[in-house]
Amino acid sequence: MLIFAHRGASKALPENTVDAFKLAFEEDADGIEFDTFQHPEGIIVFHDKTLNRTTNGRGFLLSTPLSELRQLDAGLGTRIPTLVETLATVPKGKWCNIEIKQLTDADSWVSEVRHTVASSGIEVEKLLISSFNHHWLKQIRELWPEVKIGALSASYSLQPCYDAHMLRAYSMHIALDVASPEYVQQALAEGFDVFVFTVDEIEDMQRLAAYGVTGIFTNVPDIARSIFK
Ligand code: G3P
Ligand code: MG
Repeated sequence: MLIFAHRGASKALPENTVDAFKLAFEEDADGIEFDTFQHPEGIIVFHDKTLNRTTNGRGFLLSTPLSELRQLDAGLGTRIPTLVETLATVPKGKWCNIEIKQLTDADSWVSEVRHTVASSGIEVEKLLISSFNHHWLKQIRELWPEVKIGALSASYSLQPCYDAHMLRAYSMHIALDVASPEYVQQALAEGFDVFVFTVDEIEDMQRLAAYGVTGIFTNVPDIARSIFK
């Protein structure tokens, strides 16, 4: 069972911050998941469209200049991280899942991510690119044939693996609410790794392990590690 820290160790520390990513690896997570926006001044690690919930700022992330974003308190005095700063926290051999919340230009996105990944020393084999927007993933797949794509979904559709096949995805990332044994078994049987979000209860972790899922996204990687030694 692979343990991905969802937005870092985000129960203990502010989500999507360098401190939360570092703590996740100190707690022996196998990888981190984080959310990204393609800001005009570079890729920013952040979950919401607006600054209101997780910072002391107000307004929209994308219309705020980077210099102003970097002044904000993202919790406990930490800053909103860039992609470069985030990838720098990932130790050798660990996994990294970049979830795309907003993409404006696929060409420049792929070019920036490829460059940042190469200079950070992260292994491309341990990089997953996911999004609920499968049109964006399709554009990325065409521009970057070897990268691992994770098809995110919160629904159990009538053809559950259709988009994953269309995207030549590596994995399916499915919501806990719909992660039935039938869904998981079908996805595995059709050749996809299966990751489930967001799994914080021990009972759910054990149930999903019995289904044979590949991994989970959890806000409590320390608890998950105590279950899966
Ligand atoms: O990538 C899994 C999960 O993070 C998707 O939902 O809203 O927590 O980004 P959300
Ligand atoms: Mg996410």
